[in-house]
Amino acid sequence: MIDDVLKVFRELDSKDFRILTGIEICMKDYEWVPVGELIRYTRMTAKDLEYRLSNLIDKNMVIGTRVPYPGYRIYFDGYDALAINTFVKRGTIDGIGDEIGVGKESVVHEALKEPELAIGDAMGVIIKFHREGRTSFRSIKRSRSHLEDREHFSWIYASRLAAKREYDIMKELYPEVSLPEPIDHSRHAIVMAPAKGHLLVKSRLEDPEIFLQKILSQMRIIYSLGIIHSDFSEYNIFVDPDGVEIIDWPQYVTLEHPHAQELLERDLSNILTHFERKYEVHTDLEDAMIYVKGDKDKFE
Ligand SMILES: Nc1ncnc2c1ncn2[C@@H]1O[C@H](COP(=O)(O)OP(=O)(O)OP(=O)(O)O)[C@@H](O)[C@H]1O
Ligand SMILES: [Mg+2]
Repeated sequence: MIDDVLKVFRELDSKDFRILTGIEICMKDYEWVPVGELIRYTRMTAKDLEYRLSNLIDKNMVIGTRVPYPGYRIYFDGYDALAINTFVKRGTIDGIGDEIGVGKESVVHEALKEPELAIGDAMGVIIKFHREGRTSFRSIKRSRSHLEDREHFSWIYASRLAAKREYDIMKELYPEVSLPEPIDHSRHAIVMAPAKGHLLVKSRLEDPEIFLQKILSQMRIIYSLGIIHSDFSEYNIFVDPDGVEIIDWPQYVTLEHPHAQELLERDLSNILTHFERKYEVHTDLEDAMIYVKGDKDKFE
């Protein structure tokens, strides 16, 4: 999908981005942004604007309606293009590479950042595009009913909120907690450093006990900062000879959450079960819980 965005991205000029930005801004006030508003915002002629809008619709950047009046909204690829454009303009990235991961609610890509003054090597970074709510939107679009209903467009709000939530908590916890350095954030996308090593689920550890200890010690630090990850598992932990890094933060909760203790127990139990099944390392859940909650200095 991003591949399509990238192909189109190169064909878009600053006027197209002005239209996309105009639609995005006016969407705060309109369900469907009327052409009149866009003419005012972009200062383009109606003819130029309509020509470009139909182009943007063909490219899946914008979606249009005729009822109750002719109006426009940002579509999935347009939102991706806006975020990429912002990162490029800010100098956070210079190009996007391969897709390296796709989750239930995100697509993750490699990206490149050229060195300052072209000295040294290009730096690899990671972009995570949040996709919350998109699946349900697509099926609704297919059925073509109630297209006007505000709720059906909630993917923009949901994915932007999730990205902001994830970026903010990463900023708050880094570097005290071992996680990929958060670098930048725009709309539904986050730029971060690549995690070192490989996902725990794909690794075969020589010293599983040492890594389990490192993971529990991270959980303890996170808890001491008042946070519970809430999606802690072998799928969201990278391991490398230097240590571990925890990814995938948008569903974190604070200790005040009514289910905080259950979520902590579930997180912990996921990890202990993984080490038990894969490495036959047995750990008492209660003991580990006491350690993570900081009530015991050492875990053995
Ligand atoms: N900083 C990173 N460095 C390297 N790979 C990453 C990084 N962040 C994410 N990935 C890759 O992208 C995948 C999806 O990322 P993440 O777990 O954050 O998203 P997700 O959509 O919440 O996944 P899910 O909902 O399936 O758990 C990861 O499993 C991992 O392979
Ligand atoms: Mg994940």
